[in-house]
Amino acid sequence: MAADMHQNLEILYTRQQIAERVAEMGAQITRDLNGEKLVMVGVLKGAAPFLADLARAVNVDATFDFVATSSYGCGQRSSGAVKLIKDLDEPVEGKNVLVVEDILDTGLTLNYISKLVMAHQPRSLSIAALLDKPSRRKMPIQARYIGFTIPDAYVVGYGLDYAERYRNLPDVCVIENPETN
Ligand code: PRP
Repeated sequence: MAADMHQNLEILYTRQQIAERVAEMGAQITRDLNGEKLVMVGVLKGAAPFLADLARAVNVDATFDFVATSSYGCGQRSSGAVKLIKDLDEPVEGKNVLVVEDILDTGLTLNYISKLVMAHQPRSLSIAALLDKPSRRKMPIQARYIGFTIPDAYVVGYGLDYAERYRNLPDVCVIENPETN
């Protein structure tokens, strides 16, 4: 699905820009791991495309796991408290864990997931977020690896949705008046 199929979408980062940045992030993660193994924990559903690309950009011995959360409240992204829908499948005690997220917004989700992972006593815990919206932060969460720092716009594509749509756009786009799109 291409962004130009939708009138209200404006490309923020093209697929080429994303691919270049993901390659850089993968190289940095590879350097930092210094030959150690990695457990990549994707946060469903939005992180799926980013995890798939980042995993192939790291040159390390990596395994995958997935968690799923949802936020309560008024029904929009990033509102209210966090509920766990799917826990880790494998124990991460003593392992290097990289939580992979499409977007770090209020930080509520990653605050919750960080505590969840830390309770299993990993060797290390880091966060990779493709997008960071620091202006919206409610919890003091920082990602070690950030793709792009963005303003407070509603973004879709490359995993990010509006009402479950647009996740399969290859580019990250700003959506204007999403209800009319
Ligand atoms: C989105 C996004 C992050 C979270 C970020 O997930 O994928 O997980 O919100 O927001 P926060 O920093 O304010 O917590 P969402 O709950 O919409 O689920 P999804 O990944 O299935 O779209």
